[in-house]
Parts: sequence; C-alpha cells; structure tokens
Amino acid sequence: MSITAPSGVQTTDPNKHGYRSYSLGEFKFTRDEYFAYVEWPTGKHVMSVDAFLKALQRDVAWQFFYGIVNFDGVVGTVNHYGTVDLFAGRYNDVYRKAELDHQENFETSIIKTTFEEMLDDWTNDGFDPFASPTETGSAFGAKHGENRAAITRHRVTATRMVSIPGDEPLRNDDNGHPVNRHFLDVSQEEPEKYPEPGFEDEINSFNLFAYLSRSQVTWNPSVVSVCGDSLYCPTTEEYILPIIHGNDRVEWFIQLSDELIWQVEDRDAGTARAKVTMRAGDVAAMPADIRHQGYAPKRAMLLVWENADPALPALISSGQLPSVPVEL
Ligand code: PHB
Ligand code: FE
Repeated sequence: MSITAPSGVQTTDPNKHGYRSYSLGEFKFTRDEYFAYVEWPTGKHVMSVDAFLKALQRDVAWQFFYGIVNFDGVVGTVNHYGTVDLFAGRYNDVYRKAELDHQENFETSIIKTTFEEMLDDWTNDGFDPFASPTETGSAFGAKHGENRAAITRHRVTATRMVSIPGDEPLRNDDNGHPVNRHFLDVSQEEPEKYPEPGFEDEINSFNLFAYLSRSQVTWNPSVVSVCGDSLYCPTTEEYILPIIHGNDRVEWFIQLSDELIWQVEDRDAGTARAKVTMRAGDVAAMPADIRHQGYAPKRAMLLVWENADPALPALISSGQLPSVPVEL
C-alpha cells in the first residue's frame, strides 16, 4: 500500500523481505535480499544492493556532489545546485538511441529526504556503505536492524583548515580514529609551529598523512582546507569508487601514496577515453567533459583539488571556458 510519510516521502509498507519501496515522480525503487530495482515508465534496472547502497550513501552525504553521480552505467543524478535530475539511461548511448531513457527534476530537499529514508531503511545492522570490503559486514539478506551511526556519520568540511581551534579537529585513537591497517608505517609526528606574536591565529599546520592514515572510510573526499573557492579534498581509497563521477568542472588529482587506476569515459555517451594509472607523486587534471571511476588495489591516499566557483558549470557548458585547464 502506498503511504505518504510525515516527511512527505512516498513509500509503502515493508515487503516480504522487510524493506519498504520508495517513489519519486515516476521512478520506483524496491529491494529484496540481493538486489535494488529501479523502475521508470520505459524501463526497469537491477543493481546488486551493496553497490546501490554504496552509491546512494555518497550521493546523500555529498549533497549530490559536483555534476553527475552515476550509480552505474544507467541510473544516477545530476546536481543543478538547488534542484537535482534523477535519470535512467540519460548518459548511456544505447538507451538514448532506443529512446528508453527517462529523467525528472526534483527540488534538492525532496530527493535528498527520499534518498536518506531509503538508505536508512535498506541498510542492515553491520553494513557500512562507506567502509572498505574487508572492514564491513554484508548488505544482503532479509531486513535486520539498522546502522544509523555509520550512514549519518559526520562529513568533514573545514571552514578554514583542519586543526585550527574551533574548526574540524585532528583524528586520534580517543576520538574513534585508529590508524588503518594499511598505514601503520605512516609517521604520526605533528609539525611544530612558531608563529610570531600577533600571528597565532593566522599560522597553522598539521600532518595530512597522519590525518588520512586515520580515516575510517573510503572514497569520501573531506574538505580539509579552504582558500576562497579552492578546496583541498583528500581521501583514502580502497577497492572501487562506488560511483562513476561525471564532471561539470576540471578536477586536479595528486596521488599522495600508493596507486590508483582510473577508467575515464566520455561523460555523456559513456564511451572509453583513457585509462590512467597514478603512482605516488603523480598529478592529473581530469577534464570537465569526462566521467571517471577509480580502482585502488590497496588503501591509497589521494588529494582531490576542487574549484567550488558556482559560475564554472555554465561557463564551461557555454564554451566560454575550455574543458581542460592546460593545452599541452
Ligand atoms: C571524483 O569523482 O573525482 C572522486 C570521488 C571520490 C573520491 C575520489 C575522487 O574518493
Ligand atoms: Fe570526479
């Protein structure tokens, strides 16, 4: 039976596996023990529910991120910063040519609340969609419990810089951030600071490698420093980025440790463009017209450098700015 929740979310009573279904416009989402199903007027799609929840978790936590969050090659969201498109087959040449693609636009608050409630209902006790495969339990089976602590964990977004008094704190054993098993060799020494009198509030430094070695999660860029629109968003990676990110601006990647492999495709058609292997010290600029998915054979540290200027998507899509930052 269809129910309107107090939040306005369109849902149903639990099915025989214990999970509610959700509707957004003409899209319908259901889950069973293994799979998430997405239906729209011209099609139906199935994904493994662990992959679906890992993508959903990031879309919710990142408030729909920059540009496009593809859950896979078929379904995803486009952020218009105030409204969000939910689409199926829109960025997939085969669906487009067969005219089976579908998209609808929603106020951000409506799709966000629906996604949050679906994530909450479909995440079982013991499964953490942000954790690496060997550091979490299973997403599968009939509904059992919840993992609200994991799915609503605080997202680090510094206003100036991590470790400045009043801003995001450093991580340590006591605040629930032990050093990850792959980073036991990372020095935990903090830099010494000697600001001149009167400049105590303007000089700061911290050990970013130590900070990242204590991350609980994977594929989740944190804002650790802000200078105008320039955001340093480092992250620790292991296994596969659970979304395929379609850019609406250039992103710079600086590989801080270990190795990542990036599959780079055309943003709109999904056709292959490049495979990029990045080793510690490598720097790459990802163009504004691509989509990409990263692979990490072991836990690795990556610095994602974002330009948050809200004027960029329109300047690039109208051709006033190029989609690459440098011509070589
Ligand atoms: C990206 O899409 O650029 C991205 C997303 C999550 C990460 C790293 C990179 O952890
Ligand atoms: Fe990206």
